[in-house]
Amino acid sequence: MGRSAENPAALGNAAALPYAVTVRGLTRRFGDFVAVDNISFDVRQGEIFGFLGANGAGKTTTIRMLIGLLKPSSGSGRVGGYDINREQEKIKPRIGYMSQRFSLYDDLTAGENLAFFGGVYGLNRDQVAGRIAELDSALLLSAIADRMTASLPLGFKQRLALACAILHRPPILFLDEPTGGVDPIARRYFWDLISALAADGTTVFVTTHYMEEAEYCHRLSIMYKGRIAEVDSPPAIKKKYRMTSIEDIFIHLVDR
Ligand SMILES: Nc1ncnc2c1ncn2[C@@H]1O[C@H](COP(=O)(O)OP(=O)(O)OP(=O)(O)O)[C@@H](O)[C@H]1O
Ligand SMILES: [Mg+2]
Repeated sequence: MGRSAENPAALGNAAALPYAVTVRGLTRRFGDFVAVDNISFDVRQGEIFGFLGANGAGKTTTIRMLIGLLKPSSGSGRVGGYDINREQEKIKPRIGYMSQRFSLYDDLTAGENLAFFGGVYGLNRDQVAGRIAELDSALLLSAIADRMTASLPLGFKQRLALACAILHRPPILFLDEPTGGVDPIARRYFWDLISALAADGTTVFVTTHYMEEAEYCHRLSIMYKGRIAEVDSPPAIKKKYRMTSIEDIFIHLVDR
């Protein structure tokens, strides 16, 4: 496992750095239903921020508001210093986003998807090729470059989607269940890569349903029915609830 992930205290200078994401009173209603209910939190630069919650807790809805895909009903926030209500177009090029639903082109090869998304972010073919080479040991992209995306096993689709999200070296990365359907070995590689990105200063906002992955995060938010029930580091949360397993604490907070 990556260095910083092994030791949550090893966040280095991140605690002294400005916040990459700030959220105040963020709310989203769909009709009468309140999917995200007045949440507030901050994410530090270079932090791996785990955004946990049961199905339907409001995680994806929150991410979509932060990256300019969905208008908040009320509340405010900043991503990379830009206002989520007014400066969405400035936020988009400065972030990477891996959506929960696979969103690449099925009828292109993996390599063509990489070239396409690289182009969207202003990278030329040589730059894309360079990034593919850099990411190859973690994501094994060269092995799939000529395969049709539709034919890839789920774990490889996820690797490709992660690669497309980080090609342009975004300072802030939003990963919505990046390891869903990924086998344990590939998940280990994903988390080594996530830890390395964070150690280099990338802020990683990540959702997961795997509680052992929660342990690799510097801080966690645990969401329940649109509200944030807890935000702190894994050791601090364990101390507070006097439990040794994040899974037990998650169930304690969410299964009421
Ligand atoms: N466009 C929409 N219209 C109506 N309801 C919505 C819409 N988008 C999300 N919801 C509802 O808002 C709630 C929160 O959904 P969201 O997708 O944010 O949850 P989640 O925490 O990401 O869950 P999961 O772990 O299953 O991905 C759910 O009840 C969902 O049905
Ligand atoms: Mg979701």
